Amino acid sequence: MKILVIGSGAREHTIISALRRDPEKHEILAAPGNAGISAEAEIVALNPANPKVVTEFAATSDVDLVIIGPEAPLVAGVANSLRKAGVAVFGPDKEAAAIEGSKSFAKEIMAAANVPTGQAWTVSDHDGLLVALDASGSPYVVKADGLAAGKGVLVTEDRDAAIEHATFYLQHGDVLVEEFLEGPEVSLFFLSDGHTIVPMTPAQDYKRAFDADEGPNTGGMGAYSPLPWLDDDFIATVTTTIAQPVIDELASRGHPFIGVLYCGLIVTDSGIKVIEFNARFGDPETQVVLARLESPLAPLLYAAATEMLESVEAPRFSDDCAITVVLASEGYPENPETGREIVGLDRLPVNDHVTIAHAATAWDGSDLLATGGRVMSIVATGATFSDARAHAYGTLEHISLEGSHYRHDIALSVSS
Ligand code: AMP
Ligand code: GLY
Repeated sequence: MKILVIGSGAREHTIISALRRDPEKHEILAAPGNAGISAEAEIVALNPANPKVVTEFAATSDVDLVIIGPEAPLVAGVANSLRKAGVAVFGPDKEAAAIEGSKSFAKEIMAAANVPTGQAWTVSDHDGLLVALDASGSPYVVKADGLAAGKGVLVTEDRDAAIEHATFYLQHGDVLVEEFLEGPEVSLFFLSDGHTIVPMTPAQDYKRAFDADEGPNTGGMGAYSPLPWLDDDFIATVTTTIAQPVIDELASRGHPFIGVLYCGLIVTDSGIKVIEFNARFGDPETQVVLARLESPLAPLLYAAATEMLESVEAPRFSDDCAITVVLASEGYPENPETGREIVGLDRLPVNDHVTIAHAATAWDGSDLLATGGRVMSIVATGATFSDARAHAYGTLEHISLEGSHYRHDIALSVSS
């Protein structure tokens, strides 16, 4: 297959590496890609968030499948345009992607589909905010309604901080105040062809910047999979009480969801509840989910894109333990320092259990530079989480980037 992957993060690098492991050899193109992706795919210079540009390219280049990684092109309508032109695309139309792009729309869908989630108040001004904070009580959960790259959410016991955060985002649109939900978080992805869904395997993300869940929320600093502490019926429960009802609700509104429905869940004492949906693969969870995927990836995504999921075999996952640790630039998430050189990747000890998924990297002549906050994901597998941790953290010792930071406690709680 000729496949175009849209995006430039470690998620897209991981997707491309997984496609390259398929028994069928694909021709893989990427836009805009990054330094790591450029070694595994042909980079196409086009604006990935411009529906017309992407569609013209795909249609005239005989691309068989477009895989859209990040949310911005989805919300911009790139999938709508491709689908209209008859190109198979893995990624939802913007109306369905609104389940991620608008938290109040997600709440509306969940209410209509009877899906368990925290109580929420949508506020559009200061007075409404104060009423909602009184109603929810502490700890306060305040969320920007639109996309904010993982930074729009504040969970705090400090009412003034909650007000300050909400006041900032109220300049841009509505804000959601949400009931605080307590319990471990799980990310579970479902492939959807609009009607039929297929679960991937659960992963846990580490959202806070620093060890022991200190510091601000980020896009994700690491992940592991599988989750040995989950009940056996977890996937079945999420499928029947959350994912299928949401997919059915979107289809009944004339917006079938084709792509990945990312269910961000909290396992509370009173059951599994939704904290968010995303309309795409999670980053960095994809790094550990695809590290354990044994089935070929392209046939699964193509089946989703062409309403054929019912006829494919469910994806198989290995029993390996997979972890990923994100190397971040100094100052991430608030103010990442960029343009610094990354040293050591060419001298890594050979280790079959480790791969590097590039995110914000670019070549400057023969220097590899960090160009953003999350620079790369170190992905490792092992028979145990202790083994996988040893591989990942051993590798990080050989990589240097001035001022960079990463979490040291990824999968520590499940290592013995
Ligand atoms: P979100 O972008 O909605 O996933 O929120 C980012 C992070 O904030 C989540 O991963 C949780 O750690 C936390 N969070 C969001 N909503 C809640 C909630 N209702 N209760 C507790 N924590 C939450
Ligand atoms: N890791 C969280 C996300 O992809 O939104």
